[in-house]
Amino acid sequence: MNKRFYITTAIDYVNGQPHLGHAYEKIVADVIARAHRSLGQEVFFLTGLDEHGQKVQQAAIADGKTPQAYCDELAADWKAFAKKLELTNDDFVRTTEPRHKEFVQSTLAKLNDAGHFYKATYTGYYSAKEETFLTEKDRLPDGKFDPSFGEVVELKEDNYYFRLGAHQQWLIDTIEANPDFIAPSYRRNEVLGFLKNNKLEDLCISRPAARLNWGIPLPFDKDFVTYVWFDALVNYTSIAEAHPSLGLWPADIHVIGKDIVKFHAVYWPVMLKAMGLPLPKQILVHGWWQKEGAKISKSTGNIVDPVAVIDEWGLDAFRFYVLRELDIGPDGNWTDAGFRSRYSAELANGLGNLVNRSLSMLKRYRNGVVPAKHDELAADAAKASDETRALLKQNQLQAALQSIWGLVTRANQYVDQTAPFRLAKDPAQSKRLDEVLYNLAETCRVLAVLLRPFLPGTATKIYAQLALTEAPDKLDAAIWGGLPAGHAIGEPAPLFPRKDV
Ligand code: MSP
Repeated sequence: MNKRFYITTAIDYVNGQPHLGHAYEKIVADVIARAHRSLGQEVFFLTGLDEHGQKVQQAAIADGKTPQAYCDELAADWKAFAKKLELTNDDFVRTTEPRHKEFVQSTLAKLNDAGHFYKATYTGYYSAKEETFLTEKDRLPDGKFDPSFGEVVELKEDNYYFRLGAHQQWLIDTIEANPDFIAPSYRRNEVLGFLKNNKLEDLCISRPAARLNWGIPLPFDKDFVTYVWFDALVNYTSIAEAHPSLGLWPADIHVIGKDIVKFHAVYWPVMLKAMGLPLPKQILVHGWWQKEGAKISKSTGNIVDPVAVIDEWGLDAFRFYVLRELDIGPDGNWTDAGFRSRYSAELANGLGNLVNRSLSMLKRYRNGVVPAKHDELAADAAKASDETRALLKQNQLQAALQSIWGLVTRANQYVDQTAPFRLAKDPAQSKRLDEVLYNLAETCRVLAVLLRPFLPGTATKIYAQLALTEAPDKLDAAIWGGLPAGHAIGEPAPLFPRKDV
């Protein structure tokens, strides 16, 4: 039996509202999860929130709330956001939940017993804003620290350290022996370059509870709480453990952004090794979005509000734009003009127009009854579906959409070339009109199946307009000829209303 396919996203910091970058990552993971289900595999898709830390503690205080009350309120918003994106996550982790905290504590206790931690005194410069110790390397040429670090103070404190450095060569060997462990390959090369050119320092895993109390207490020393990564990364395993009957671990894919590669590709594998667990099969790293060529930033107002876009244009328009515009890997740039142009060219005039005119003509000329099977577009449909299947298996979401749109374009050309509206005027062409109408309706059906992981609502609407009662949720159904002769379709309606903007 196939092991359940286990896919995760980064868990988002709960300070503030979700933005384009968060939405993109979750949609990417959702499409991969849906694609694997569509390929017939059982899937477990996990997303959630990273709720501990100084920033949350400070934000809660500033808001006059306890950190827990503050997190509870925001968590409700983030869960609603996951629904808005129609994510098919099977669980939603919050790092403040007992099931997670208990697992973290038992893991820490075991690792401590096995000698993976030690206590040491550290003196250094500390940025509370970034929750990080700075080194001499972080100084600007003028000797100051970048203003983005906020106030930097000199701190001397005891902390616990994880013996990370001892595993440097093992990690290099492991990454070299597993070419797909970090994807895309240029991210893998960056990690290997870093590991080969730097000495891996041990990892500080704690903060004194006197300075930061919004964290999970170390089970072996109550004066300290875990610091960031021994809490956050462990979610992937604490939640696997929370569903013991599913045998989830190891994860198949961790989808993350490029800024947290080091934590996932350097710290996490060594942590897992210490925990005696196998490594995830792949860390899939996506790039970062900008808007109109500049950094997304709340303070400058250069933001994309996913909820506002979805409310105005529909969820599938948003999902389509981010997936079609940006391949998994490089950085992307959202432009409002680009969004409108893809909406109008590819959705309204491309897919929407094809489905609407195909089904409207079938309704008008044949009373909505599907004619006998005919195979003129069968090879084009088979090409798109074979390619989509293969590309989905390699997480090539953008390329899969390009292939699917190859079929959309081909079918729209077919309408122009065969001109069914002219055939309909000539009774001698009745058989030819039947053929054309079958090819178009069946292409719409195949498209719904192929599109379903990407644009679930649109796929469902196409099936509903075809009056097909099953869900278009298995890629095997993309095989040509699924629409039976004599079947009566439903009411056509525009999928992507044209907008005059
Ligand atoms: N809490 C940590 C992750 C812990 S995972 C065990 C964190 N949170 S975050 O909220 O800052 O970021 C969550 C994810 O969103 C990260 O993968 C990050 O790369 C991604 N993005 C944040 N801004 C982004 C863009 N502008 N563009 C694309 N993704 C971005 O890091």
